[in-house]
Amino acid sequence: MRTLNTELISAFRHSAPYITMHRGQTFVFLLSAETIADRHIDNVISDIAILQSLGIKLVIVFGCKNQIDNALADAKVKTRFYKRIRIADTRSFSIIKRVCGDIQYNITSKLSMGLGNTPMQGLRLSVVSGNFVTAKPVGVIDGIDFCHSGTVRRVDTEGINFQLDRGNVVVLSPICVSVTGESFSLNSEDLASRVAIDLKANKFITFCPFQGIIDDEGHVVPELFPDQAEEYLKKLDEDDVSSTARYLRAAIASCRGGVPRSHLVSHTDDGALLQELFTRDGIGTQIVKDSAEQVRQARISDIGSLMELIKPMEDAGILIHRPRELLELQIEHYVIIERDGMVIGSAALYPYIEEKCGELACVAIHPNYRSGGRSDLLIETIEQKARKMGLRKIFVLTTSTAHFFLEKGFVPGTVDDLPKKKRDNYNYQRKSKIFFKNLDN
Ligand SMILES: CC(C)(COP(=O)(O)OP(=O)(O)OC[C@H]1O[C@@H](n2cnc3c(N)ncnc32)[C@H](O)[C@@H]1OP(=O)(O)O)[C@@H](O)C(=O)NCCC(=O)NCCS
Repeated sequence: MRTLNTELISAFRHSAPYITMHRGQTFVFLLSAETIADRHIDNVISDIAILQSLGIKLVIVFGCKNQIDNALADAKVKTRFYKRIRIADTRSFSIIKRVCGDIQYNITSKLSMGLGNTPMQGLRLSVVSGNFVTAKPVGVIDGIDFCHSGTVRRVDTEGINFQLDRGNVVVLSPICVSVTGESFSLNSEDLASRVAIDLKANKFITFCPFQGIIDDEGHVVPELFPDQAEEYLKKLDEDDVSSTARYLRAAIASCRGGVPRSHLVSHTDDGALLQELFTRDGIGTQIVKDSAEQVRQARISDIGSLMELIKPMEDAGILIHRPRELLELQIEHYVIIERDGMVIGSAALYPYIEEKCGELACVAIHPNYRSGGRSDLLIETIEQKARKMGLRKIFVLTTSTAHFFLEKGFVPGTVDDLPKKKRDNYNYQRKSKIFFKNLDN
């Protein structure tokens, strides 16, 4: 007998909503010098290639700082940095061009692999590189001539999108041309975030040697707003060999420029990219423009996910059973918390307009997201809704969360205090306790 691999099946099913969500989106990757030099680079590249096969449009910007440093040291050529920019004089620039060219060919070759028994078996990726970014010289700053160091002047978004729409992967080198026919060396982090912003990419993704941004207690911080990320940036050592500060700065800049989410994931944890993109909680750090969570009115399309949330609590007898048909009829009574397209919290308001009161029901938070104050958000939203309807108070019936509602400002009531219709249907066997809260209108 062959046995079912239930873990695999369950993981695949759970990743399905993310596959649907990411399809057709544009992701800009920054492959830093460090990631390219890491022993997991082949797996990183093949994981990126898997994304392309799932219908995600890919732009890869690569960096080569460490490889350039090594090549310059080998040639005994010294360069200086000023304001985080390497000053590329004529001698160093010829070495920089050679190193960048080498790396570009290496990345293209790795993206072209299709060996049997590898994740890339059968994949045929078309890789396109070209003059999609026009550079301009940095020029002279504080009396220092930056020679062949440049910055982005213009990104040919139309040209890049043309390639992406045809299923091609666009690889961008940090050596870019100018309208005068010269070429310039650009900072790859600045280039990647500018490309992500101009393309209005859905994600900017970069790698670091850690699981993400680590807090003072050694835990990975799963999500940060740009301002919070800036605080972490201040603590990171710019000269740290891992240079996480540079990647974080680019991630923050991308978000501030309009990219909804920037991710920092590990290149040393094999497969971290896939876990970050195809699981609810990810594994690295994401910098989000807006909160990844949203409290909103529920819609018919939320019912599947809503049922997934409340079913275990119904089975445990904590919530009363609500069949799909009932939820469909009553969906306008529900507010939900949505995270990554999934419902992680719910609450409902059943109004009794004549009695100017309403029942708060089906308050539920997914077990992974409890104790984060989310129920307050839901109850506040329900209270606002009730006020708009002209209701003066809300009540709740509960068997096991009496103390929770007392702490939220509810006071005990009796069956006689309920609206007539509710009173007539009160289930005396269930022995639910009743709590009221007055709304100050
Ligand atoms: C009750 C529930 C909605 C709270 O969600 P939440 O997001 O954790 O809520 P908050 O973060 O605002 O508050 C959490 C606090 O309430 C407490 N709490 C949770 N359930 C409780 C209960 N049954 N009795 C007493 N306190 C409770 C938690 O211990 C926590 O306290 P702490 O922060 O001191 O540890 C969630 O636990 C849940 O979904 N429970 C199952 C469904 C349910 O019982 N619903 C209510 C019946 S309508």
